[in-house]
Amino acid sequence: MRIDVITVHPELLASPFSHSILKRARQKGLLEINLINLRDFAKNKHRTTDDYQYGGGAGMVMLCEPIANCLDHLLSERNYDEIIYMTPDGETLQQQTVNQLSLKQNIIILCGHYKGVDERIRQLYITKEISIGDYVLSGGELPAAVLIDAIGRLIPGVLNDETSALFDSFQDGLLSYPVYSRPEVFRGLKVPDVLLSGNEKLIREWRYEKALERTRARRPDLLKE
Ligand code: ADE
Repeated sequence: MRIDVITVHPELLASPFSHSILKRARQKGLLEINLINLRDFAKNKHRTTDDYQYGGGAGMVMLCEPIANCLDHLLSERNYDEIIYMTPDGETLQQQTVNQLSLKQNIIILCGHYKGVDERIRQLYITKEISIGDYVLSGGELPAAVLIDAIGRLIPGVLNDETSALFDSFQDGLLSYPVYSRPEVFRGLKVPDVLLSGNEKLIREWRYEKALERTRARRPDLLKE
């Protein structure tokens, strides 16, 4: 899978993809991430990518032309399955969307800043608008990193134990069950006996019950769906 990220702060995104699972995915050649500096597509002397908004009011708007230049350049080189814009007024990211995106070949992610991008870019190019939650961050870079992390770990071949992503919170509509490792007793708290029993059926049932219990207590809305 190839992901092209358009940003005015590529340096913000250097680290998140250089560690752990995403690093391995890139090393294995399963994921290619290209950071594109939007300023390289601004034609004027100062390489401006934003300006005041028509109608007045505080806050700059990201200009059409550099973004369109950049997108036209990418689109002339290959087909893209999605052109995603990270924005707090997009659809809230859900595991189901992440699952779908993990099966795509080529994706562009556009990171917004300030008041966002000129509406015409959204009308002309963007195929999907994604928010990572009901709060406003200072730019789309961290949201893009969140999205890419969520997608990257699902790309077939990335996780060593292929089944482990299947049991993540949300994959089956439930939160995860509690997990334990050594020691058996820690500050007086003991690992539940069933997990030490070696009885796979009982362990499976216990985990399902605990997942259900936790979901009922913390996210009853998931059970209604
Ligand atoms: N840009 C700023 N805040 C955001 C959010 N919550 N989700 C996606 N992009 C954003």
